[in-house]
Amino acid sequence: MQILSTGLDVDLFLKTIQGKTLALVPTMGALHDGHLALVRHAQMLADAVIVTIFVNPLQFGPAEDFDRYPRTLHQDLSALRPLGIAAVYAPEALDMYPDGVPLTRIHNPIMGSVLCGAHRLGHFDGVLTVVMKLYQRFRPHVMVFGEKDYQQYLMIHTMMRDLDVPAHIASLPTQRAKDGLALSSRNAYLTQDQRAIAPHLYQTLRQLKDALILNPNDVKSLLDHGCQRLHQEGFEKVEYLEALTLKDLSPWQGPQTPGRLFVAAHLGGVRLIDNIAI
Ligand code: PAF
Repeated sequence: MQILSTGLDVDLFLKTIQGKTLALVPTMGALHDGHLALVRHAQMLADAVIVTIFVNPLQFGPAEDFDRYPRTLHQDLSALRPLGIAAVYAPEALDMYPDGVPLTRIHNPIMGSVLCGAHRLGHFDGVLTVVMKLYQRFRPHVMVFGEKDYQQYLMIHTMMRDLDVPAHIASLPTQRAKDGLALSSRNAYLTQDQRAIAPHLYQTLRQLKDALILNPNDVKSLLDHGCQRLHQEGFEKVEYLEALTLKDLSPWQGPQTPGRLFVAAHLGGVRLIDNIAI
């Protein structure tokens, strides 16, 4: 497994795997079993797999957790080594953004203005921009993303289609702990008590989904009820709980269109997100 830090490393490495199909798994490190599942999935889709590890400053707001985001490169490399991937690309910010903050960003005003986009201003511009830069650097045949960040996956998929980028965007269902909590690097911030409350996020989504299928005309009151339940279970703040269509993240109108339930809620200052298909 080669460790690449600079654009030059990348160019030299790419020469050594000419003719092979390439799958890229972009991450911000602090790898858990969910990431490792993405890597295994990527291995089924291409000859060579590259994992990128980069805590992208462009996708964090000024009051967000960029400084305290877990950085565990040593452990991450140890977790990846046994998988037999071709390389890890772990650049410094200066290698990704040599001129400092880039003046150009990729912006999706429709899908980027709801859910996490409404609460994390500029977040998806930062995500789309870094994903496009990673694509340009490696020109992979396929890029693999987790469905825990479903809005992100959908927006990247849309960006590639809108901009005629010939990469396949693959996704893998959310990996969960036995009690249903979606695996996330931010779970490491939870205390034991908060960790015991956290699975209610997924349980609430499951109950809500069943209720929506039985009563598709009661979307608003069922969502309100779901919010109340999360507060009762101990979540301090429900940022959003919404039922949206997959096409463009507009409000879900009933079972005739494919939809998804999305939630973001705060527990002891930790922001947790989850989503499931309706
Ligand atoms: O999902 C993440 O970890 C990040 O948003 C990504 C896609 C690696 C871009 O920085």
